[in-house]
Amino acid sequence: MINVVLGTFFGDEGKGKVIDYLSQQSTMAIRCTGGNNAGHTIKVNGKKFAFHLIPSGILNPNAKAVIANGVVIDPKVLVQEITQLKEAGFSVNNLYISDKAHVIMPYHILLDKILEERRGTEKLGTTACGIGPAYCDKYERSGIRMEDFIGDHFSKIALRNIENKNVILEAFGHEKLDANAIIQEYSEYANILKPYVTDTFSLIHDALEKDEKILCEGAQATLLDIDHGTYPYVTSSNPTIGGICAGTGVGAKDIGQVIGVLKAYSSRVGAGPYPTEQDNEIGDKLRELGHEYGSTTGRPRRCGWLDLVALKYAVRINGLTGLAINHLDTIGKLDRIKLCVGYQHGQDITTNYSTNLKFLNDCLPVYEEFEGNFGDISGMKQIMELPIQAQRYLKRIEEFVGVPVRFVGTGPERENMIVRG
Ligand code: GDP
Ligand code: IMO
Ligand code: MG
Repeated sequence: MINVVLGTFFGDEGKGKVIDYLSQQSTMAIRCTGGNNAGHTIKVNGKKFAFHLIPSGILNPNAKAVIANGVVIDPKVLVQEITQLKEAGFSVNNLYISDKAHVIMPYHILLDKILEERRGTEKLGTTACGIGPAYCDKYERSGIRMEDFIGDHFSKIALRNIENKNVILEAFGHEKLDANAIIQEYSEYANILKPYVTDTFSLIHDALEKDEKILCEGAQATLLDIDHGTYPYVTSSNPTIGGICAGTGVGAKDIGQVIGVLKAYSSRVGAGPYPTEQDNEIGDKLRELGHEYGSTTGRPRRCGWLDLVALKYAVRINGLTGLAINHLDTIGKLDRIKLCVGYQHGQDITTNYSTNLKFLNDCLPVYEEFEGNFGDISGMKQIMELPIQAQRYLKRIEEFVGVPVRFVGTGPERENMIVRG
C-alpha cells in the first residue's frame, strides 16, 4: 500500500516534516513530481536539512529513497545534494533514481530566466530552476531521460538539443551555449549518478507485492497544479493525486491514506491570486513568526489567513483521508485569528472554489473569528491537551471539510507534533 502526503495550498505547508515522521515507519519513500523547485525542511536536534530532490525519507536508513519517473532532475543539484548528505554523515546507498526521469539541462534554466524576464510586469515568479522548459521538452518528446543521460548516446542527443536551443537563444538576442563544455561537465555528473539509476517501476511494484509500507512525498501543492491550479500562476506538473500515479506507475487501487498538509494560516511564493492574503501588518507578523522565507529561493512568502474554500477544493481533487495542520504554534501567537469559510462573489456566497482568475480577484473572503493566545503548545502530545480555543479552531476546520485531523504541528522540530491514531 502506498500512503501519500500532498500539499493542499501553494506549497511550503510543512510536507517535509510530516514525511519525516511517516517515513520512519516505511520501507520506501518516493518523490514522483516536480524537481528542485521543491524545498522540504526537516529539523532534527536543532539541525536543519533542506531537501530539493532526494526524498526526505532518506533520513530513515532502513528505507529505500526513490526518485521516480515523474520528477525532472537537475543532475548538478542532485550531485550537490548527495555530497551534502554524505558530508552530514548519511548514507546514500539506498538512493534509487528512475531511468525514465527527465534531466534538466542548462538551457532549460536559461530559458526559464529569459522567458520570465520577457513577461515584464506579468512575471509568474518561477523558482528559475528550469522546471517549465524541462517539462516542455518532455511533452514535446525531445527531453533527455536518465537512461539516455547515462548512456553512450548522451553526447549525440545533447548536441542536437543544444544546437536547437541555440537557434532560440540567438533569436532572443542571447549568446549561444558552448555545447562541448556542457557535454563534458554533464558527462561527469552522469558518471556520478549512474550507479543509482534503475528501473524504479519494478522496484516499487516488487515492494508492493511484498506488502511493504511505501510513502509518496508530494512536492508543490494542489493550487500550483498545471490543470487544477491558478493557471498560469502554477508549476508545470500535477502535484495532485493523479500526478502520483503517473509519476510512479502505480494504479489507484494501491493508494492507501492520502494526507493533505496545510498550515494553520496560509502562504504563497511567486505571483498569482490569493484571496485571503494579508498584505498588511498581519501578513508581516505571520511571516516573521513563522519564518516564512522560501527554502529554495529565500524569497519572502506572502502570508494570509487559512482558506477553507480552497481546502475543500483540495479535499475533493485529492480524495484526502486525513489532514496535517502545521504551525498551530505560530497562529496561536496572535490575539485573534480569522478563518475563511466562504467567498462572497457579487450577491452570492459560495464555498465552491474556482481557478478562474477573474472570480478569484473579484471575490471577498467571508471570515469567522477565533480566539488566539494558545501559549506554549510545543511539548503537547494530544489534542485534548491543547487550550480550548485551539481545539475549537481545529474542530471547525475538520467539520467544514469533513476530513479528520491526523497530525498537528506544534513547532519546527521533529518531535513538535501531535499524532492522532
Ligand atoms: P514543505 O515544502 O511543504 O516541506 O515546507 P517547507 O519546508 O518549505 O516550509 C515549512 C517551514 O515550516 C519549514 O521552515 C519548517 O521547519 C517549518 N515548520 C513545519 N511545521 C511547523 C510547525 O508546526 N511549527 C513551526 N513553527 N514551524 C514548522
Ligand atoms: P514545495 O515542494 C512553494 C511556485 C513558484 C512559482 C510557481 C512556478 O517546497 O512546497 P516553477 O519554478 O515551479 O516553474 O514556479 O510555483 N513553486 C513553489 N512554491 N513551494 C514549492 O515547492 C514550489 N514549487 C514551485 O514560487 O510561483
Ligand atoms: Mg517548501
